[in-house]
Amino acid sequence: SLKPLKDTFGRHIDYLRLSVTDRCDLRCTYCMAEEMTFLPKREVLSLEELEFLSGAFIDRGVKKIRVTGGEPLTRKDIMTLMARLGRLLDKGDFDELTLTTNATQLYHHADVLRSVGVKRINVSLDTLDDKKFEKLTRRNVLSQVLRGLDAAQNAGLEVKINTVALKNINDQEIPMMIEWAHGRGMELTLIEVMPLGEIDEDRVDQYLPLSVVRDSLEEGWTLTPIEKRTGGPARYVNVEQTGGTLGFITPLTNNFCAGCNRVRVTCTGQIYMCLGHSDRIDLRAAMRGDNPQQALDAALDRAMLRKPERHAFDISKRGEQPSVSRHMSVTGG
Ligand code: GTP
Ligand code: 5AD
Ligand code: SF4
Repeated sequence: SLKPLKDTFGRHIDYLRLSVTDRCDLRCTYCMAEEMTFLPKREVLSLEELEFLSGAFIDRGVKKIRVTGGEPLTRKDIMTLMARLGRLLDKGDFDELTLTTNATQLYHHADVLRSVGVKRINVSLDTLDDKKFEKLTRRNVLSQVLRGLDAAQNAGLEVKINTVALKNINDQEIPMMIEWAHGRGMELTLIEVMPLGEIDEDRVDQYLPLSVVRDSLEEGWTLTPIEKRTGGPARYVNVEQTGGTLGFITPLTNNFCAGCNRVRVTCTGQIYMCLGHSDRIDLRAAMRGDNPQQALDAALDRAMLRKPERHAFDISKRGEQPSVSRHMSVTGG
């Protein structure tokens, strides 16, 4: 078989984040501007191309594929792709197939996801308050999301909630959300907001360091670090009082890039070697050439040579341009 993917810092890349659409049905204020332009459909890779790409990564040792967006469940034929990837999973070609979703459409897909071999999913949810949800996402659909969560748990999917910590929006609500998640047998991971793409607000007003959140949680709770790792950047603790697991994703207060194991591919086939950089390589061009297999492999080799050591995110000065001009929705985080 082919050479496993390894970058110039000796890091093994075995985790692919595959974005299947740049579209989203929400407009979270920390992620997007209200007015966003999305790619015309003809620019977007076909299911066959997404499957071929995934196969090329699997051939190079990728063990975990996370399907992302935009919102992946807004793509019409997404379950066909999930089923095809599920067959490769079944054959033992790779180890984990999963999804990050805002859950607005999860109600319709939960059973099928489980049946194609998805065992756990990550759901983005920043507040349980209807009014706040509408203010934050600019859409009034919290009840749909909650219905999706029920459906997922009923289908036997493990659910991890992703909550971006946001100053003056959900800071007061975080302990309650943790209790709520743990009470229903779900894990919850807190995330620091990252400076990607222009939005309608200043991220200085949103950014809440998780070191601060953690200190305040520890006034009431006992948090015990545990060894559990899920392949992503989260570090986990056990919360003695709830009996549940809590994760922290701390790009700003505690850099985790030394353990980076991932790359992301956008829905147009651009591979970004790091979330915090603009450098990318066009895999679609490689794939559409004369010898797709060989051209893709060569492109992946080049990508490994160009993977940066770490990001340089900074949210400290008011009025600063974001570190990276593309939005999170282009790569699905
Ligand atoms: P697990 O499989 O549960 O470990 O998931 P994950 O954390 O890898 O994926 P998820 O899609 O749930 O990502 C949660 C948050 O972590 C999102 O806000 C991502 O943008 C962020 N994130 C994931 N990978 C990276 C990374 O490589 N660098 C940075 N800075 N953030 C990341
Ligand atoms: N900073 C941190 N997380 C973000 N997400 C979207 N935009 C940002 C940002 N600027 C999160 C979503 C979701 C995940 C895929 O990325 O809330 O949980
Ligand atoms: Fe890897 Fe870049 Fe994410 Fe750091 S910011 S973990 S180097 S992708």
